Formats: sequence, structure tokens, C-alpha cells
Amino acid sequence: MKPISKIAKAIAPSATVAVDTLAKQMKADGIDVIGFGAGEPDFDTPELVKQAGIRAINENKTRYTPATGIVPLRKAVADWLEKMYGVSYKPTQICVSSGAKHNVFVALQALCNPGDEVILPAPYWVTYEEAIKMAGATPVIVKTDETTRFKLTPAMLEAAITPNTKCLILTNPSNPTGMLYSNEELEEIAKLVLKYDLYVISDEIYDQLVYHGTFTCFASLGPEIKERTVLINGASKSFAMTGWRMGFAAANEEISKAMSSYLSHSTGGTSTITQYASLAAYECQDDLVGKMVLAYTRRMKYFMERIAKIPGVTALEPDGAFYVFMNVKEQIGRTIQGVKINSSADFAQALLEKGLVAVVPGEAFGAPGYVRWSYATSMENIREGLDRLEKFLAE
Ligand SMILES: Cc1ncc(COP(=O)(O)O)c(C=O)c1O
Repeated sequence: MKPISKIAKAIAPSATVAVDTLAKQMKADGIDVIGFGAGEPDFDTPELVKQAGIRAINENKTRYTPATGIVPLRKAVADWLEKMYGVSYKPTQICVSSGAKHNVFVALQALCNPGDEVILPAPYWVTYEEAIKMAGATPVIVKTDETTRFKLTPAMLEAAITPNTKCLILTNPSNPTGMLYSNEELEEIAKLVLKYDLYVISDEIYDQLVYHGTFTCFASLGPEIKERTVLINGASKSFAMTGWRMGFAAANEEISKAMSSYLSHSTGGTSTITQYASLAAYECQDDLVGKMVLAYTRRMKYFMERIAKIPGVTALEPDGAFYVFMNVKEQIGRTIQGVKINSSADFAQALLEKGLVAVVPGEAFGAPGYVRWSYATSMENIREGLDRLEKFLAE
């Protein structure tokens, strides 16, 4: 038989999905494992959003929609962006699709030609590297570390730029580190974006989940920057709607038109029911997120207090999102419960098998030496998970 697609064969499956699937399988097999792998809120979708979805079904709003979403939803998203960040988009510049993940994928398809380079600061969210490759482009990974709080500096960015650089991916706040760029830091990056004529895919899916500092929307840094930015956001994290599959991109007319064509031939639009539910979320004037942010803050603080007392592991306090990126470098070289730990991947594997705690190894995010814990889980699980970590490390 002839070989299948080279691009498809080169794609690595999502490591975060793999850890979550394994933990769920272990649970189904009756093993008492606690999962910290999944990046999804443990809260229920707000009631008014669920009711809007149910109403859509009852009112037979179950037919095809425009590929980029129903006009009222695109308008509601545009109004929301104006209200939140003072950035003004026409509804035609908004592409709603099946999750922010899909928007990242389609944005890269719309922007990149084979041979283009896309700068990706590490640690990065697992999907970007593969999505860049799926677009036929080349990821240029720029490693950051704790000395800059895992943030890309202008000097790092400038050193990575070549004549082939097309685009930079920024995630703010970051998955997996939880770090937030300040307005000043983003302004410095923006200067280079203009100087070298780059596009920016600015993934702002965690914009509502910020515990310290102030979030800056990259596109709000000025009209020239807005023209070059594909702003990615969506309902999954802020409104606890991961399973509904709603994300959006806001971009200039040329890019949004290209993305729209792409969507019209691929998904044909996300579920109609999801769109009506999301409309209720984006039109809602009540605070749907505040209670969740309070709970995440409490959990994060507890996490940090506990980590400070556990010898051999450290973590920077996150500013946003719902992840703690734990430094486990001191554990590498040790033998824990009969298992030799040669990497953070070994550490995560041993912690799962011996400690019954599922975390994602830093290797998946281009940052060996770390493991990512999601605190989008109950306080009870966090307490028990950290007790298990303590016990695991002590033995
Ligand atoms: C940075 C980032 N972008 C996008 C997504 C995907 O969001 P969605 O569920 O809307 O596809 C995630 C999910 O983990 C994420 O962490």
C-alpha cells in the first residue's frame, strides 16, 4: 500500500488528552487515581447558558448556520470585545468555530505557507507545535525559563526572527505556566512585531481567569497591531463550556475571510445549539465568572502554601489560568519507590503508577524538568493529591 500523508504521520497525539484518558481508564478499572491532567473547569456550565441551549433545541434551532456562526453571536462577541478591551471588530471579522483549539488550527492554515517559520515560546500549550506542522510551517521554539517567569523577552524574540518568520504565538495568561504578561512587556513585543512585519496569534482563552495583575488584550495595543493580530478566545474556560465546543477568532477582513472559507469546507460551523447557548453567555450582563475565579484563587493559594512545605519541588505562583507548573528537577536522578527517575516524564509516570496522581510531564510542553498540575478540581482532590505527592516523595 502507498504510504499515508507524511504530515499526518508526523503528528504526535495530545499528551494532555493521553494523561487524562489514562487516568480515566485507571479509574474505570477501579483504581483510586486522582487526575490533575485535564485543563478543564470542574464547574457546571451556568444555568442560563444551559437553558438557552435547551430552548434552541425546543425551538428547532437545529439547522445549518453560516460557517463562522450566526450573526447575533458574532455581533455579541464583537460587542463583548469592545466592552471588555475597547477593541472594535465588525461581526464579519469574527469567526466562531468548534473551540479555541480549532481556531488556532484554522488561523495557522490561513496565515502560513510551507517554509514559513512560526515562533513559539516554550513552555507552550501542546497543540501549537503540531498545528504549526499541520499547516506545513516550521515551529521555531524559543525556550524561556524561571528567570523571566517563563516569559518571552524582546531580546529572545529578536534573536529568533529570520526572513522566513511569519508569525508569533503568544498565550496570555499561559498554559502551562499561568504567567501573565504586563502591558509594558507586551508593548515591547509589539514594537518588534511591527519592526519585522509579523503576525501574532494571541491566544487569550484564559483572559477571565486572572488572580494578580491586569490582563492586556494584545489587539488593544493600537490599530497597526490589531491589523496583525489574530485574537483567539472562547467560552470553554471562562464559562465552563469545554464540551460545547465554542471558540472564536477576531482578525482583519482578509484573514477572517480566509478562515471563513476554510471553515465552510471543513466543519461548516460549530453546533447550532452551542451557538445559541454561547449567545446567552456573551450577552449576559451578570458576572458568570467571578465565583469561579474566587474558587480558583483559593485553590491556587492552598497549592502554593503546600508546595512551599514540600522539600524537593518548587513552583512560581501563577498569575492566571488554572495550572501550577512544578519544578521537579531535584527529583531527577533519584530512585523513588524502586523506580529510577531519569526525567520529568519518568517522574510523572512513577507518580501515576505508585502515587496514584496524574499530572502532565513538562516534556509535553517543551519544558523537561517540570510537571503541570491543573487546579481545576475540588479542594478535596487537591488536598489528597498533595498528600499523596508528599508521601510519594518521602518514601
Ligand atoms: C492555551 C489554550 N488554548 C486553547 C485551548 C483549547 O480551548 P477549546 O477547548 O476552546 O478548544 C486550551 C485548552 O486547554 C488552551 O490551554
